This record gives sequence, C-alpha cells and structure tokens, in this order.
Amino acid sequence: MDAPKEIFLKDYKMPDYYFDSLFVGEEKTIVSSKIIVSPRIEGHSHPLVLDGRDVKLLSVKVDDKDLKAPSGTFTLEIVTEICPQNNTSLEGLYKSSGNFCTQCEAEGFRKITFFQDRPDVMAIYTCRIEADKTLYPVLLSNGNLIEQGDLEGGKHYALWKDPFKKPSYLFALVAGQLESRDDTFITSSGREVSLRIWTPAQDLPKTAHAMYSLKAAMKWDEEVFGLEYDLDLFNIVAVPDFNMGAMENKSLNIFNSKLVLASPETATDGDYAAILGVIGHEYFHNWTGNRVTCRDWFQLSLKEGLTVFRDQEFSSDMGSRTVKRIADVSRLRNFNSHRSYGTSIRPHSYIKMDNFYTVTVYEKVCAEVVRMYKTLLESSGFRKGMDLYFKRHDGQAVTCEDFFAAMRDANDADLSNFLLWYSQAGTPNVKVVSSYNSEAMTFSLKFSQGVPATPGQHVKEPMFIPVAVGLLTSSGEDIPITSVYHDGTLETVMENGQPVFTTILKVNKKEDEFVFANIAERPIPSLLRGFSAPIRLDSDLTDEDLFSLLAHDSDGFNRWEAGQILSRKLMLSLVADFQQSNPLVLNPKFVEGLRTIIRDPSLDKIMDLMEVADPDAVHAVRSFIRKELALQLKEEFLSTVINNRSSEPYTFDHENLARRALKNVASVCPFGELTLDHPYLASLGDEELTNLALDEYKSATNMTDQVAALAAIAQNPGLAREEVLLDFYQKWSDDFLVVNKWLSLQAMSDIPGNVVNVQNLLKHPSFDLRNPNKVYALVGGFCASPVNFHAKDGSGYKFLGDIVLQLDKLNPQVASRMVSAFSRWRRFDDYRQALAKNVYEIASKSLA
Ligand code: ARG
Ligand code: ZN
Repeated sequence: MDAPKEIFLKDYKMPDYYFDSLFVGEEKTIVSSKIIVSPRIEGHSHPLVLDGRDVKLLSVKVDDKDLKAPSGTFTLEIVTEICPQNNTSLEGLYKSSGNFCTQCEAEGFRKITFFQDRPDVMAIYTCRIEADKTLYPVLLSNGNLIEQGDLEGGKHYALWKDPFKKPSYLFALVAGQLESRDDTFITSSGREVSLRIWTPAQDLPKTAHAMYSLKAAMKWDEEVFGLEYDLDLFNIVAVPDFNMGAMENKSLNIFNSKLVLASPETATDGDYAAILGVIGHEYFHNWTGNRVTCRDWFQLSLKEGLTVFRDQEFSSDMGSRTVKRIADVSRLRNFNSHRSYGTSIRPHSYIKMDNFYTVTVYEKVCAEVVRMYKTLLESSGFRKGMDLYFKRHDGQAVTCEDFFAAMRDANDADLSNFLLWYSQAGTPNVKVVSSYNSEAMTFSLKFSQGVPATPGQHVKEPMFIPVAVGLLTSSGEDIPITSVYHDGTLETVMENGQPVFTTILKVNKKEDEFVFANIAERPIPSLLRGFSAPIRLDSDLTDEDLFSLLAHDSDGFNRWEAGQILSRKLMLSLVADFQQSNPLVLNPKFVEGLRTIIRDPSLDKIMDLMEVADPDAVHAVRSFIRKELALQLKEEFLSTVINNRSSEPYTFDHENLARRALKNVASVCPFGELTLDHPYLASLGDEELTNLALDEYKSATNMTDQVAALAAIAQNPGLAREEVLLDFYQKWSDDFLVVNKWLSLQAMSDIPGNVVNVQNLLKHPSFDLRNPNKVYALVGGFCASPVNFHAKDGSGYKFLGDIVLQLDKLNPQVASRMVSAFSRWRRFDDYRQALAKNVYEIASKSLA
C-alpha cells in the first residue's frame, strides 16, 4: 500500500478537461459511463488522469475505438463493476436496509466509476437506472424524470436528466422499496414544485414535521435572500445507514433517518429542532453549494460556513433567537479545543479529505466567520453582498476570496485584514480593561489581543474583530450611545439621527482603545453581545457587574453569558478547594443569583479553562454544586416542575419548548439532545424525588418528557434504574431511533465501572457496529462520559482503542470520528496523557 499522501492548497491546478455529459447505468451494479471530454485549452497534451477506488474496470473505449486520447473533444466510455452490497464504508453506492443509495461527498463518486472526481469539474448528468421492478420499484436520480418503462425479465428503467451542471460530489441515485409523502410549494414567481419525502411505508406518518420544515425553508429563503427553488421536483430520501447527517445532492437530498422521522411519541424537542435545522441546511445548499460550488476541498467552509449560518438564522427566525444562539455557542465552545490545536477554517493541507468535516472547518467556526460579515455590514449590506456573489458566480466553482470580494465590493467596505480568519489558526484571546473618567464623562475600553502559536504557525498577526458593545446604568437600563473616540477621531454612531444601544467596535490592532463620549455615570459594559466574534474574552467585570448583567442585560445572550462566567468562577475556586482537600462551601450570593436563572455550564467548558484538566475534581465539584443547589432551591425546583406540566397535545413551538425545558431541567434533564447535564432534583437521590421522576416517566405523553425522566432515574444505580430501563426497552424495541436513545443514555452514565455495561451492550441484539447511528449512540455516548471514559485505570481509553481498530476495517469515516474523542489528551494530567497518547497513536496510525 502507498504511504498516505498529503495534499496542499498551494498545489491547486485548473483541470485540463471538462466533462459535458455523463451516462450512468446500473445493471447487477454494472456501471457504464459515457463522458464527453473537452480539453480546457485546445491542443494541449496534458494526460487525462481519472480517479477510481474499489472499482473493477471492465472496458474503456475512446470515440468507440482503442485507448489513444485524441487532441480535441472526444467520447470516453467506461464500464466498471462494483459491489454495493459489500460496501460498509457507506461512501459511493451502497445498500441500506435493502435499498440502494449513494453518498458522493467528498470523494465517493470514484467508488462508482472512473472520473475526474473533483468539485471544479462540472458536467450535465444523464442517468439511466435499470433494476428489478419488484425489488426496486422506485428509481431516483438528480433533476427531472425524462422517461421510464418496463424491460424484459421483470426489470424496469428510469432515465433522469439534471439540467444544471454540477460536480460529481452532488450526484445521487436511489433504488428501492419506498413510498412518499407528497406536497407542493408555489414559488414566489408562481411555479409549482412537487415535494416528495421517501421512506419505507411504515415510517410515512413520521414525515409530517420534515415536510413542514422543508416548506418553511423554501419560503424563508425567498423572503430573506430572494432565492427561489430552480426545478419542478424536490426529493428527500431517508436511509437508516448514513455516516453524517444528510447530503445536499441536487434535487435529491439523502438523509440519515434520524433527521427526518419524528412523532411526538418517539422524538424529543431536540430531535424536532435538529430536523428543522438540517432540512433547512440541505435545502439552502441548493444555492450556497450547488449553484455556486467550491473550487477545491480547501474551500469547504465557503459552502458549509455560509450554509450553517443560513440554517442558524432560519432556526432563529422560526423559534427564539436567543435560545438558538446560546445552543450554537455552547456547542461551539464544547468543541473549540480542536481549533486551539492548529486547524484554521481553511487548512493548507490534508491527508484524508473526510477528516476535514470537523467543527472548525465544516460545522460551526466557519459559520461564525460568515456571521461576522453580517455583524459588520448589517442585514442589508450582507444581502447586497449575497446578491453580488450570485450575480458574479452562479454556475461556477469558486474560493473563499471570491465570497469575501463580493461582500466587500457590494458595500464598498473596508474589511481590512478580515481574510486572516480563513488562514490563521487558533482562537484569539482578547483582554479588555475599562475605565471611567467622571470629569470628561468618558468611558474607555482598552483591548489587547493575541492568537496562541499553533503547529506550523508560530508568529500570529492581530485579527479584525467586531465587538458588539452596550452600556448599562447601575440600575440596569441601556445607556444611549452617540459617539466614540478611536485613533484620535470622534465618530458618531447614531442611526437615523438617533443614539444606539449597541455599537460595533472594530478591534484590529494588537492594542486598541475606544472611548465613549457623554457618559454620565460609570456604566457596566455588556461586551461581545450575541457573541459577535469567536474569541475568548477576558474582562475586568466584577461579580457585582456580572450579577447586574445577569438580571438586566437587554441582550439575552449576554444575560446567559454573565451566569456562565459566574458559575465558571465558582467552579474553578471550588475545584481548587477540592484539590487542596479544603471543605466545599457554596457561595450564598451565587445561590441567590440562581434563584432567578438556572442554566448549567457543561463540564467540557470548565475543563477548557483549567491549565490541566482534572476530570475527578471537576466531577466531584459538579456533583456537589448540583446537590447543594437542589437542596437549597428544592421548593423553587418543585414548583417549576408543577407549574410547567401540561396536558395539551404536543406542539413544537417556542412557548412549549421553553416550558418543557424548564420542567425537565428542574426535575429531570435539560433542553435538547441528551447531554451530561443532570437534572437537579433527582440528584438528591431520595425516595420522594425518585418517585416524582417515576411519575413523570409514567405520565409522559411525549418522548421529550419521557426520556428526560428516564435519564433522571437512570443516574442513580439501583432497582428503580434497572426496572425503568427494561420497561423503556420493551416499549420501544421496534423503533431503532428510540432504541438509540436508550443505548446512549446508558453509555453516558456516570455509574461506577460503566465500561463493563457498555461492553455488554455491544453484544445486545439492538447493536450493530456497521450502523453509524448506533456507534455514535453507544461508543460516542461513552466517550462523552467524564468519569468512565477518563477512568484512571485506562479502561475507557482501551475500550475506545479496541473499537476503533474494528471499526476501521468496516467504515474508516466512522472510525476517524470516534478517534477524535482522543484529541483532547493533551489537556489532561500526566497520568491520563500517557494513557491516552498510547491508545491514540495506535488507533490513528491504522487510520492514516
Ligand atoms: N455536505 C453535507 C452537509 O452539509 C455533509 C456531507 C459530509 N459527508 C461526508 N461523508 N464527508 O450536510
Ligand atoms: Zn452542509
């Protein structure tokens, strides 16, 4: 085997050939392709090199003759044989529950046939599918259905043609026994679009929320960005075996069933929210990704950052902006340590493209960069930039600089060194010192910034950081802001002649000072409102300031943030007490502050702040705080549970989401996905409260309440736990998505020695190492457990190491996602570092 080759951004070369049309046929999974090849430059003599992996070449013809490539345009015909039924990597063409489906991003097309499998080679695709009519009654591909009919021997065929040029990674094919929920959408210009969501027949009732989400997304993109759907048909197919969440193939989105199927009885509020967001995300790619695509895979954040940003905005507009922002920033911070280790949102090299789909490059950080354009240019300027981007680049494969240039040119804006966000790795650390001058009536904010050195980037330049700031009076009112001194000039910051309550400071020097004029009293600054830049901010706010922001800030995000900073401070000092064996005492001021707002920081955030993470201390302190709060605030928590019960049928709207979230944090579990946050009351473990949780479990009419109650009971070892887990399994053993919740809940448990339970669950009939969702639930869930994954005896690391070696043989993408659980070993104490490093190196070597 060849050593893995590192690919460099600097080596990008334009392709020498373009393919104008493609024909794929499927017969016993024989793939015949017919490609019209034209040289980019007439008469050049560059060789045509095609990509292919795990495909058996049956024949090649050039212009119907032997293999010599003519100099002009020619037709290339290739026949290959592949085995989708044995394809466990779930890349290329594979089988899931008996149906054929594809996943071609990033480099899966080369597992179907030989091709120049790169995003800047765009072609018109025509696809003819032939298959057994009884086994595979539904045959789908991209674009429009041109023709279909019966063939001899019980077979039939379908001919699809996609009128839009596209890269191979957007190609899709589905063949199987599926049925559809059908609906229509009338676009703003009056065209009727058929919408179809395909699943096995028994799952059709669970597609109503997905259809609602799709129609809402189509309408939103028209209203906010003036972007209309461009074909007459839009298909979504749900498959149970899928490596990631979903895929935006042109007009034939393929989804992990987890992100399509929902009913109140089987899906949580978190599942409903995720479906809305991901259906939106894949739909929005039709313009940001498909119509304008990436020149090469280094530009992944061009389409992903922009599209994640768009789906975040969509979800905000559909629900609560503040709640959505808090959820997104929490997630970003939980994973942010990866970024500190040296990936920028556009890395300069890669070995395996699939490892690019990280939180940094693919998921969240790049969306923060797009959000900063909007913060700097405001909604109207951002829209102008988008319009120009499509005007210039529709139908093209472009770079992050092209997007930057469109934003800048449409607004005539000075975006200074903003592009550093794409190339410079590491999270900027920003320090703010404030001072008030009562005589001059000025308030000054002095910023200093630094980006930590990362591998290969030792010297860093100052970044361009938009900091949204508001000022509060001592009684918590917003102070009107009229003008700010910066670099020796006084700038008015009024809007339509009116003072503003939030202004954007553009920090772009190593040391940068801003002075607010006409400030009558010492204000409390509300800094980085809405998390206006992905930085780590260190301010000189006192506890008193923070309590005041917690109670009064008009920026909902910063109210939450103040609570986060306060609880982090509290935890850090308690961790120090714990490490020095001092008695633990809870600051009464903090308890009082919490009587008004209760939301817990996640463990990982705390670990990120500690020089050397000490999981044992963090766990002990966390349990202490939780119990202490539950004890001292028992009355408040109990009335929260009682006041937030409801007998109404399930509805997915902000009011009901908030109500259930409150009830479940108090009694059982927090909002959204299952997390490590444990319910308060149940942490006391007394009989009265266990019975309360049992009541909640039995009377639950939806999965949100039911799984939350289950999680509460399952945190304390004992008979009640065993019984309720068994009951839940028996109830839901036919629903694989619900069973995955059952698996992950047990996997994440803090109960001592849980690795043995997890090992037994690997052998449970409901588990299958070939299904990514099950691996993420059980193995991924276990790695999220601070206590058992990081156990001092190394059993957790060893468990993961063994699994990764098995997984790598079946599905390298899933294996490498699991390895990333090790990526934080650098942060842990010496003992754990040594343990993790060993296993990490063995595991990652086999993946290279
Ligand atoms: N583009 C897809 C999305 O935005 C992600 C696909 C990644 N898949 C992969 N195998 N790398 O949802
Ligand atoms: Zn995407």
